[in-house]
Amino acid sequence: MNRQSVELQVRLGRLTLDNPVLVASGTFGYAREMESLVDLSRLGGILPKTITQEPRAGNAPWRTIETSAGMLNSIGLDNDGIEAFIAHHLPYLADLGPAIVVSVAGRDHDEFVRLAARLDGLEGVAALELNISCPNVSGGVDFGTDPQMCERLVAACRGACELPIIAKLTPNVTSVAQIARAAEAGGADALSLINTVLAMGVDWRRQRPLLGGGMGGLSGPAIKPIALRAVFQAARAVDIPVVGIGGIASIDDVMEFLVAGATAVQLGTVNFYKPTASIEILDALPAALAELGAASVADVVGTLKSEPA
Ligand SMILES: Cc1cc2nc3c(=O)[nH]c(=O)nc-3n(C[C@H](O)[C@H](O)[C@H](O)COP(=O)(O)O)c2cc1C
Repeated sequence: MNRQSVELQVRLGRLTLDNPVLVASGTFGYAREMESLVDLSRLGGILPKTITQEPRAGNAPWRTIETSAGMLNSIGLDNDGIEAFIAHHLPYLADLGPAIVVSVAGRDHDEFVRLAARLDGLEGVAALELNISCPNVSGGVDFGTDPQMCERLVAACRGACELPIIAKLTPNVTSVAQIARAAEAGGADALSLINTVLAMGVDWRRQRPLLGGGMGGLSGPAIKPIALRAVFQAARAVDIPVVGIGGIASIDDVMEFLVAGATAVQLGTVNFYKPTASIEILDALPAALAELGAASVADVVGTLKSEPA
């Protein structure tokens, strides 16, 4: 297969992306911070930091800590609130070119629905990602752990807006498949997973937790095998596309997620230590797909064979 002729466009339900490489919420600011480092126009999609109804100051420090092969964070959804996002960040994002997938988190069911309705029809908003999986806000994960609440919430957000909806799932559940099916039943266009893995760090000398929030989320290369497993399970459980997230830092990582069942990927923690990773991956993607004889991204999605390598 000629690498020039490989089709990179992918579809996530009603959302079409020029390519499958996106940047994950909370790890790319509002994109402006990255413009001197990354050719933003090349990305398949950008997910700004999760926004909430009201501005949030977030958790007490420390909020981020490096761990072996990853990082712990307990940011606590520090953000300026939806009206400031619409006034100050959206106009810049809307001009960049890539699909802007706005990540939202409500304190409760009704707030999620209000956020969805408020973003409906705004220029530059291509889709919504429902952050029902943040481990760093109290009560925030209920929608991502209780299948009934999840289905009801996705259905209500779908009813409140015309935008394609991606439900972002947590790995901190017994059955990823069960919650994936619930989000699909609610009408999600696609699923994205995983958010961070609930974790903690301890300062034994001071006999205290390291993070201001007590516990937090583990991300980075350390969680990649967990994410691969979760993506594989979710993709097998549903008919809608799955977006893989978790420790992705190289073209090999991306190909592993596609083969395991992801239609697209989001890069998170790598943006902090190698901000050019997304562009390097995009440069390498056609050749890697061609190596498998694929004419498109879709040709390799979920092609994992059952026998071990
Ligand atoms: C510092 C930090 C902040 C994050 N903030 C958000 C957020 O606001 N909303 C969200 O959905 N995920 C957030 N995440 C989770 C990432 O989007 C991603 O799901 C997770 O880190 C796993 O991917 P990675 O291993 O590539 O980082 C955050 C992660 C980190 C490290």
